Amino acid sequence: MKRLVHHNYVITISAIGILLPLSVQTAAPVFSKPSPLDQQTSCFENIASSSSIYRVSASDADGDTVTVAIHSQNPSEPPFQLAKAIIGWNLMTPSSTTIDRETTPTFTFVFNASDGNNTVQSVTLTLILTDLNDNSPHFTQSAYRVDPHLLTIRATDADVSNTINYVIKEPIPNNMFSIDINTGQIILKTLTFTVEASDGTHVNTTTVATGTVVGQPCNSSPCLNSGTCSTNGADFACTCTLGWLGKTCNITDPCIPSPCSNGTCYKSGSNYTCLCTEGWLGDTCNQVNPCESSPCSNGGTCYVNGTKFTCSCDTGWLGERCNSADPCISSPCSNGTCYRNGSNYKCSCNEGWLGDTCNQVNPCISSPCSNGGTCYVNGTTFICSCDAGWLGDMCNTGKPKSC
Ligand SMILES: *[C@@H]1O[C@H](CO)[C@@H](O)[C@H](O)[C@H]1NC(C)=O
Ligand SMILES: *[C@@H]1O[C@H](CO)[C@@H](O)[C@H](O)[C@H]1NC(C)=O
Ligand SMILES: *[C@@H]1O[C@H](CO)[C@@H](O)[C@H](O)[C@H]1NC(C)=O
Ligand SMILES: *[C@@H]1O[C@H](CO)[C@@H](O)[C@H](O)[C@H]1NC(C)=O
Ligand SMILES: *[C@@H]1O[C@H](CO)[C@@H](O)[C@H](O)[C@H]1NC(C)=O
Ligand SMILES: *[C@@H]1O[C@H](CO)[C@@H](O)[C@H](O)[C@H]1NC(C)=O
Ligand SMILES: *[C@@H]1O[C@H](CO)[C@@H](O)[C@H](O)[C@H]1NC(C)=O
Ligand SMILES: *[C@@H]1O[C@H](CO)[C@@H](O)[C@H](O)[C@H]1NC(C)=O
Ligand SMILES: *[C@@H]1O[C@H](CO)[C@@H](O)[C@H](O)[C@H]1NC(C)=O
Ligand SMILES: *[C@@H]1O[C@H](CO)[C@@H](O)[C@H](O)[C@H]1NC(C)=O
Repeated sequence: MKRLVHHNYVITISAIGILLPLSVQTAAPVFSKPSPLDQQTSCFENIASSSSIYRVSASDADGDTVTVAIHSQNPSEPPFQLAKAIIGWNLMTPSSTTIDRETTPTFTFVFNASDGNNTVQSVTLTLILTDLNDNSPHFTQSAYRVDPHLLTIRATDADVSNTINYVIKEPIPNNMFSIDINTGQIILKTLTFTVEASDGTHVNTTTVATGTVVGQPCNSSPCLNSGTCSTNGADFACTCTLGWLGKTCNITDPCIPSPCSNGTCYKSGSNYTCLCTEGWLGDTCNQVNPCESSPCSNGGTCYVNGTKFTCSCDTGWLGERCNSADPCISSPCSNGTCYRNGSNYKCSCNEGWLGDTCNQVNPCISSPCSNGGTCYVNGTTFICSCDAGWLGDMCNTGKPKSC
C-alpha cells in the first residue's frame, strides 16, 4: 500500500513538469472552495456585521492574477461582501445589519473568478444560519379566561315532593369553587392568576381569569381576528379589523373585498347589496345600464327591462326608440277615427262622411233617391238605381206606361 502511494507521487510530479509549459495562456481559474465536495457552510444567526464566515479559494494554473467576486446571492438582501484576504477571499456578513434565521434561514451564493481572459462560475454555496435562542415564548392570546360553569352535579330522589340542595363539603380547594344550592352547578370563583411560560432562557407571563371578573370583560379576549376589545359597562365591545364583523368579529364582511364591480357595497344581514353607480346595473353592478346611452328619441322615457330597455314614447312618436312620427298625431281624419298602419294612417269615417280624410259629405246621406231608389256614392256625387217604374237622376220621373 505504502509503496504504491509513493510510486504514484513520483508520476504526478513529472506530469506537472510536462504540462506546465503547454497550458500557458489557456488555463481558466479553478475554484477549490466552494467545490462539488464543499458546498455548504453554517454560522450562527445574529453574528456581528462584517464577520468573516467562509474562505473562498480559486487559483489559476498559469499563475495569472485571479479576481473573485460574488456573482449572485439568494435572497439578495441584505448583501454579503467578499474581501481579499492573504490567502483567498473572505465571505463577510452584511455590513449594514445582522442576519436573522427567523427571517432568512439560508442564503445561497455563486462566485465568479476571472484571470482577465477567462471567467468561470463556482458551484452554489449554501449558508445555513444556526438557530440561537433569541426569541421569547409568545402566548397565543393576550389573556385567558376559564369558563366559570365547570360542571353540573345531578342527583335524583324518588320522592316527588323533595327538592335537592347541593353544597360543597370540606375541604374546598383554595376556596376556588362555589356551588349553586338549587341547581348543583359548580362554579369557579372569580379570581385571576398569572401563568409563566419559559423556554429556559426567556420568560413571558399572561393572566388567566376565572369566573366573571366584573369590569374586565376583555380579559377573555373575546374579539377574534385581531379585533380590539373595549369595555362597555360589564360587557365588551369589539372594534373589528377590516373584513370582519359581528359582536366578536367572527363574521366575514361580505363587502370586503367588494363584490360590486361598479357600485358601493352595503351590508345586508350576512349578505350584501350593491348600489350601482350611474350607468351600471345588476346584483354586482357588472351590467351596463341599457338606458345609459339614451336610446329613446324625441322625448321618450327609457325603462330598464331585464338587460334591455323599453321606451315609453312622447305623444306623436312611435317605434322601439320613438324615432317614427305618429301619422295620426295631426288628426288627419276630419270626421272619422285615425288608425295607424305602419308610418301611414287610415281613416275610418263617421256616418255621413267619406274620403281618405273623411272630409267629404256622403251625398247619399240626404237620401236623394226617391220612390224606393237605392243611392250609390260616385266620387263626390251620387247615383240612384231606381225601382221599376221610375226614372231620372233622383227616380222622381214616372216611366211612361208601355203600350
Ligand atoms: C462577476 O459577477 C458579478 C455579478 O454578477 C458581475 O458584476 C461581474 O462582472 C462578474 N465578473 C466577471 C469577471 O465576469
Ligand atoms: C490573454 O490572452 C492573450 C492571447 O490570447 C495573451 O496575450 C494575454 O497575455 C492573456 N492575458 C492573460 C491575463 O492571461
Ligand atoms: C410576551 O408575549 C406577548 C404575546 O402574548 C408578546 O406581545 C410580548 O412581546 C411577549 N413578551 C416578551 C418579553 O417577549
Ligand atoms: C359568531 O359568534 C357567535 C357567538 O358569538 C355565533 O353565534 C355565530 O354562529 C358565529 N358566527 C360564525 C360565522 O362563526
Ligand atoms: C366599471 O366602470 C368602468 C368605467 O366607469 C369600466 O372601465 C370598468 O370596466 C367597469 N367594471 C366592470 C367590472 O364592468
Ligand atoms: C347575496 O346577495 C347577492 C346579490 O344580491 C345574491 O346574488 C346572492 O344570491 C346572495 N347570497 C345569499 C347566500 O343569499
Ligand atoms: C320587457 O321585455 C320583454 C321581452 O324582452 C317584453 O316581452 C316585455 O313586454 C317587456 N316589458 C315591458 C314592461 O316593456
Ligand atoms: C264634421 O261633422 C260635423 C257635424 O257632424 C261638422 O260640424 C263639422 O264641420 C265637420 N267637420 C269637417 C272638417 O267637415
Ligand atoms: C296597411 O298598409 C299596407 C301597405 O303599406 C297595406 O297593404 C294594407 O292593406 C294596409 N292595411 C290597412 C288596414 O289599411
Ligand atoms: C261617375 O261619375 C263620373 C263623372 O264624375 C261619370 O263619368 C261616371 O259615368 C259616373 N258613374 C256612373 C256609374 O254613373
